[in-house]
Amino acid sequence: EKGTYPHYMLKEIDEQPLVMRKIIQNYQDESGDLAIDPTIIDAINEADRLYIIACGTSYHAGLVGKQMIEKMAKIPVEVHVASEFGYNMPLLSEKPLFIFISQSGETADSRAVLVQIKEMGYKALTLTNVPGSTLSREADYTLLLHAGPEIAVASTKAYTAQMAVLTILASVVGKSKGHLADFPVVKELGIIANAMETLCDDKDRFEMIAREYLSVTRNCFFIGRSLDYFVCLEGALKLKEISYIQAEGFAGGELKHGTIALIEEGTPVIALATQEDVNLSIRGNVKEVAARGAHPCIISMEGLEQEGDAYVLPEVNPMLTPLISVVPLQLISYYASLHRGCDVDKPRNLAKSVTVE
Ligand code: M6R
Repeated sequence: EKGTYPHYMLKEIDEQPLVMRKIIQNYQDESGDLAIDPTIIDAINEADRLYIIACGTSYHAGLVGKQMIEKMAKIPVEVHVASEFGYNMPLLSEKPLFIFISQSGETADSRAVLVQIKEMGYKALTLTNVPGSTLSREADYTLLLHAGPEIAVASTKAYTAQMAVLTILASVVGKSKGHLADFPVVKELGIIANAMETLCDDKDRFEMIAREYLSVTRNCFFIGRSLDYFVCLEGALKLKEISYIQAEGFAGGELKHGTIALIEEGTPVIALATQEDVNLSIRGNVKEVAARGAHPCIISMEGLEQEGDAYVLPEVNPMLTPLISVVPLQLISYYASLHRGCDVDKPRNLAKSVTVE
């Protein structure tokens, strides 16, 4: 039930700090250490490459998950959109393990790949929010997201839950291989939960940003580099699906290879700047679009902020910034949808779970 909330989406955005804490609890053993079923850890350690398969928001979580797994566990990872995998199947490694990410566990495109790779004799792990769902039943292993039911068509808390569970998975595998022994994931995810709370308490600010930048525009661009780029893809998907504004996420460095031609007087450009090593270059991109008339909105992080930033996120571990930088984008999309009179929870032409290929 949505209780006093006007929409499920807003309720689900607000639930994210609690979901983080639930995930930590559910993946802790009696001594407080993070633990994952050892048969899953063995299956991952036996693989020479992981193939993440997903759609939409879950695919975006997979892009971030790849970075976590490669950095913490040092296993190569590929991420594929399920609906394309069958046509463009990559040359598989000798010992692949497939990881399906699906909030509902019912997405037909993902299931088609699962059926195909099972026929080829490969094993699969499903990350899902729904115990007993098709993708969970048909895979060899399951990890649950513990996000609670997600009702709004636009996925919010499942996305952050997927990234949190992928972080835990990456760190437990990393530890089992002797890497990253001192990365305090429980503490870092606790900091994430607190930061999410701060952001959820700042709704007025995000409503103002939505009003200033998005109440009349036809389009909107999201730019970022490194991890921020993946969050831009998700921010753009959120905005387009619930507000019908044409929105795209771009890698900052790609602007000059074509996209910058789209910038007109007043075009909103939302830029994420949470990564120290690319802070100057993304700000350079913002200057380039501003010089062509864009209306830039920079969301940065404590320690990296500059005068004129529209919002400064609380500081979190640099590897985990996607878990918090997406929250302002979720809220900005929510308010844009609301201000434009759209149906926030049930946008046109969309279903919560896509059970046809
Ligand atoms: O249930 P799934 O995670 O498999 O769903 C995948 C996509 O259909 C889903 O993430 C979709 O993109 C959302 N509506 C995005 O908000």
